[in-house]
Amino acid sequence: PAQNVSVEVDFDATGPRIEPEVQGHFAEHLGRGIYEGVWVGEDSAIPNTDGFRTDVLVALQQLEIPVVRWPGGCFADEYDWRDGIGPRAERPVRLNTHWGWVIEDNAFGTHEFLNYSEALGAKPYVAGNMGSLPAVEMARWMEYMTGDLPTDLAEMRRANGRDEPWDVPYFGIGNESWGCGGNMQPSYSADLHRRYSTFVKAPPGKSIVKVATGANVDDYNFTETLMREARHTMDAISIHYYTFPGSWEDKGPATGFGRDQWASTLSHALRMDELVTNHVAIMDKHDPEGRVDLYVDEWGTWYDSEPGSTPGFLYQQNSLRDALVVGLTMNVFHDHTRRVKMANIAQMVNVLQASILTDGEEMLLTPTYHALDMYRPFRGAVPLQAEVDTPRYVEGEYDLPLVDVSVARGEDGKLIVSLINLSPDTPARVATNLEGTASGRIITGPELDTHNTFDNPERITPAPYAARSRGGELVFDLPAKSLVVVTID
Ligand code: AHR
Repeated sequence: PAQNVSVEVDFDATGPRIEPEVQGHFAEHLGRGIYEGVWVGEDSAIPNTDGFRTDVLVALQQLEIPVVRWPGGCFADEYDWRDGIGPRAERPVRLNTHWGWVIEDNAFGTHEFLNYSEALGAKPYVAGNMGSLPAVEMARWMEYMTGDLPTDLAEMRRANGRDEPWDVPYFGIGNESWGCGGNMQPSYSADLHRRYSTFVKAPPGKSIVKVATGANVDDYNFTETLMREARHTMDAISIHYYTFPGSWEDKGPATGFGRDQWASTLSHALRMDELVTNHVAIMDKHDPEGRVDLYVDEWGTWYDSEPGSTPGFLYQQNSLRDALVVGLTMNVFHDHTRRVKMANIAQMVNVLQASILTDGEEMLLTPTYHALDMYRPFRGAVPLQAEVDTPRYVEGEYDLPLVDVSVARGEDGKLIVSLINLSPDTPARVATNLEGTASGRIITGPELDTHNTFDNPERITPAPYAARSRGGELVFDLPAKSLVVVTID
């Protein structure tokens, strides 16, 4: 039988709006994320538009993604932007030492990324190299991309085919400086941030958000040190948090898991709330006026790579469980709109919690894509507080709410509601104080790991969903393991 849940929305208790950029993406030179996933080149047999594979381009255009972070990740701190400009045949061939020790031929560089962002209608977020290049190179890269006066670098850009300067609204000063970005101590990283960010400048009349590379997971000392020592030279600070069903050493498979790993994954995803809360508390101490934003610029599920896939390519399947992780994580971000102004799911295509998977010329949309698509109405909406009275879903050591809810008022005045039933087998009946007609979409499946394959690419897709009205108030019947997003007329 269905378990009863009640939701009481407080229509007056609003927070700052949900920035569209919390639905951002991250695309690194890693595995088949860029090469094959985004870029196949003009001579490829795979249908392409100026070298960008057309099927993926169109699917991402339909998602209207707000922002993309590139080129890494760990790759960012070994990347020399000069390798990726000019005639492709003359670009140097390098090694990608982090991700599989494979050839990086630099076919996809600055022009390709910024043109791709424009084609997607997404804002570019460029991550600079603080780990292994001098500071002047960050300044030069910015000038190359955004310079409008006839300097040598701007002329070089023009000679390479781009007349108009690009807009680069976000620039990352390094990546994971505590690890692959240079194995730095927090105070050294704070000093380097101060130094490098000094030289990153937008042309007059343009603005640039400078993002300090921040903490891993719960390394609060890192946030504390950077906020104490470098806050005046940053506009945002990042944190990275990945969801493993198990541990870093023994992550667990993307499919074929049991109820224990279903519950551990959802529980670990919900830990985002604790992490954001604690990092924000440190930021509040040093920056009570709230000038510095928090960007969760890498997040998502990280499983064992698919058996038989290339080591270091981080290729994993994506199932109903991932759709619920998207929902739970977005709902956490909706609770923290005061500081969390951007988040970037890792990664866009073929890597970790990907929205799209490809296999040669085939492509499929994952449950993650569909969940992000369902969340689009929340962009720019103002979150409302909701009191949720829910039974628990208990699985071994994991004690979770049966139902997770987020409510917001969209820019058009309509209410948007997301509801997640975390239980693998128990339906929920959610009574609310909401009125009107609620329609939207639901994503669910017969198995915990229902997923799309290249043989069956539409096994799991969203279906239409409508709430019913009882005594003038809306009631949502949620099947087990489901995610619903509706708007209310
Ligand atoms: O997304 C994969 C890797 O995870 C990134 O390169 C790095 O920043 C993080 O450790």
